[in-house]
Amino acid sequence: MTVVNTVIEPLLEVFDEDLEDLCDAAESAILDGGGFGWLRPPPRAVLGRYFRGVIMVPERHLFVGRLDGRIAASVQLQEPPRNNEAQAHAALLTTLFVAPWARGHGISRRLVQSVEELATELGYLMLNLDLRSTQTAAIQIYEAQGFTRWGTNPAYALVDGKFVEGHYYSKQLRELPKTKKSRNRNKPAK
Ligand SMILES: CC(C)(COP(=O)(O)OP(=O)(O)OC[C@H]1O[C@@H](n2cnc3c(N)ncnc32)[C@H](O)[C@@H]1OP(=O)(O)O)[C@@H](O)C(=O)NCCC(=O)NCCS
Repeated sequence: MTVVNTVIEPLLEVFDEDLEDLCDAAESAILDGGGFGWLRPPPRAVLGRYFRGVIMVPERHLFVGRLDGRIAASVQLQEPPRNNEAQAHAALLTTLFVAPWARGHGISRRLVQSVEELATELGYLMLNLDLRSTQTAAIQIYEAQGFTRWGTNPAYALVDGKFVEGHYYSKQLRELPKTKKSRNRNKPAK
């Protein structure tokens, strides 16, 4: 068996060579039919601008997976918008992909763990995600890591003129903080 070196890390700034690798990996994952919203790879310049933009958005955190030094995978943690107080407890795991040539080395499992760790560190209670029901490998990975499916949208995506259903998953990252009311529940009334 060939031994490979894999590294998972946040990408805080992007150099040209890394950007090329990231775009190559995204393109090959899109062509393979998976993940990432796009059904066909957009022009390279669009993809490059997209990733440069992601790095600049304060609510988005980009992690990459490297195989033998080259970027081969990525995922993002998306924090909720600041005006959404009612949903300020929940972050989104989104756009996970691993280039086909880098699969089977545990990169996606560790990318998902990194997102989960950061979401916990940032104080979120819930981590949400959604994906097409055809993405069976990813479904197995998410379920193995404790995400629970709570809903299905039959018209989640439109692919070649046909609806594709999508599943919604959540994972609770920690216990709800106790409210004053529940802390005092057993105290005798004055
Ligand atoms: C899903 C995907 C991210 C998996 O990437 P990967 O790096 O090969 O996955 P890993 O090597 O980390 O595998 C993690 C676990 O899932 C299992 N797994 C991986 N691919 C699998 C498959 N096709 N079928 C069944 N199990 C699979 C592995 O055996 C491993 O199990 P283990 O932890 O018990 O060893 C990759 O196939 C991909 O990019 N697919 C297309 C995009 C996509 O579906 N993205 C998700 C949408 S948000």
